[in-house]
Amino acid sequence: MSIHSVNHCELIDFPVIQDPRGNLTFIEGDNHIPFDIKRVYYLYDVPGGAERGGHGHKALHQLIIAVSGSFDINLDDGQGNKKVFHLNRANFGLYVCPMIWRDITNFSSGAVCLVMASAVYDESDYYRNYEDFIAAANT
Ligand code: TYD
Repeated sequence: MSIHSVNHCELIDFPVIQDPRGNLTFIEGDNHIPFDIKRVYYLYDVPGGAERGGHGHKALHQLIIAVSGSFDINLDDGQGNKKVFHLNRANFGLYVCPMIWRDITNFSSGAVCLVMASAVYDESDYYRNYEDFIAAANT
């Protein structure tokens, strides 16, 4: 199996500290997820029907969480393997390894998509063209 297969993308179950005042979840880089966190960003106020993603990353590792609401993450490793994950729980995250094309769809009203990433933003790490991604994934 290629090290950049959708089969290496998996849901991670984070600790939950339950309390009558509300639940608390925490995530430690290199402990709960397989990379050190260098950046956090989030998508919110997503209009109905909008889609995000539509790209792949050369080297970036990411962890994606529905901290509020829900959405679908559609993964494609460019080698014929695709998987869809429906995220709707704040204590689960989807680990996405490098060289995976992702489309994020089906956002619920009020959804917040939190992403932890292994590096700061770098446009040269992106594949924004699907054909370029497929070619790179098969070399
Ligand atoms: P993009 O990664 O394409 O968004 P998404 O995958 O969530 O649909 O980024 C959209 C724009 O935001 C693009 O112009 C780059 C910019 N951006 C940053 O400046 N810093 C960041 O950390 C991210 C994720 C994006």
